[in-house]
Amino acid sequence: MHEAAATLTSAGYNALGMACDVSDEAQAAALVTRAVDQFGRLDFAYNNAGIQAPPTDAADETAEDYDRVQAVNLRGICACMKHELKQMRAQGSGAIVNCSSLGGLVGLPQRGAYHASKHGVIGLTKSAALEYAPRGIRINAICPGVIETPMVADMMTTQMAAMDEFLKQQPIGRLGTAEEMAQTVLWLCSPGASFVVGVALPVDGGFTAH
Ligand SMILES: NC(=O)c1ccc[n+]([C@@H]2O[C@H](COP(=O)([O-])OP(=O)(O)OC[C@H]3O[C@@H](n4cnc5c(N)ncnc54)[C@H](O)[C@@H]3O)[C@@H](O)[C@H]2O)c1
Repeated sequence: MHEAAATLTSAGYNALGMACDVSDEAQAAALVTRAVDQFGRLDFAYNNAGIQAPPTDAADETAEDYDRVQAVNLRGICACMKHELKQMRAQGSGAIVNCSSLGGLVGLPQRGAYHASKHGVIGLTKSAALEYAPRGIRINAICPGVIETPMVADMMTTQMAAMDEFLKQQPIGRLGTAEEMAQTVLWLCSPGASFVVGVALPVDGGFTAH
């Protein structure tokens, strides 16, 4: 994270890197405060942090695994969005994008905890979007399909057979890239998306079109 900030700074951008555990609301609040201290305002926010839960038969799901994934994926987004909105509400403008998943739109066996958290992100996004659209703040979610990131690399090694099957079902015939997610988030934050409010946008190579 500091490396990414250093790369951007050396390329001439004004960047700030900060560690933050989004499951701790005080850290999420400090992140927004520090960004506003440095940049003077907050125009856009992308709430991306998320974790997987180990695949589990629903009858064997532990409360610890369930709570941990909700704490990061759902309560973390809630905390970040809350503090971003405090600043944007004062400005009277802003755009927020929350990271859901295809797991926010469909179910998959053994993935109850993760999918519950990602369905929750969509509920949170839509409700806040309705609340803040009249105040000049647009809130949307993206629902990535299977994207080439360390999270998926890890699943490829630990759940090879399931992932193989899953990959055969990709209409576009390949995985997505982090750059494709970034382009979508940038568009949702841009004036080009000025009439886009409260959507859960699949960015999944067609997976949820089945
Ligand atoms: N890769 C996919 O196929 C895919 C598909 C759908 C949705 N997503 C979602 O995209 C987002 C990014 O996932 P990814 O694939 O890049 O995974 P990743 O594991 O490669 O990256 C996740 C990032 O979240 C950070 N993070 C984890 N817990 C955190 C916490 N408590 N506080 C702050 N940061 C924390 C990690 O440090 C890491 O930088 C997640 O929300 C994930 O659920 C990913």
